[in-house]
Amino acid sequence: MRAKRIHHLGVAVDDLDEAVDSYQRLFGAEVEGRDTLESQGVEAVAVRLGESRVELLASLGEDTPVGRFLAKRGPGMHHVAYAVEDLPGGLADLAGQGVHLIDDVPRRGLFGMQVAFVHPESVHGVLAELVTVG
Ligand code: CO
Repeated sequence: MRAKRIHHLGVAVDDLDEAVDSYQRLFGAEVEGRDTLESQGVEAVAVRLGESRVELLASLGEDTPVGRFLAKRGPGMHHVAYAVEDLPGGLADLAGQGVHLIDDVPRRGLFGMQVAFVHPESVHGVLAELVTVG
């Protein structure tokens, strides 16, 4: 599989509005969109910095993926998302290489994207998200 580029960095935060304010004030970030994914218990704001994007993630509860992450590790880098053209094909490629996939098949992620996550143990400690756009 060949990723086209980094689509965004995911950062787990305690307070979404405070984090957005920080990124605006410190780095001149512009808010691109805000979305909630109830099924994953996460609320997110995507901010743009030129061509780059950071996804700020807050949990909707303690017993959610981001809630557990925050409880265990505190705020900080959560995942790196790679843009791929063929997500099912990419997942098949990774599965064939014995990679630990969190999502065997693409699912609906934030901002209406099709996404799949790869376990950090297969990517040197960093959770990876594969996304298809357009
Ligand atoms: Co993401």
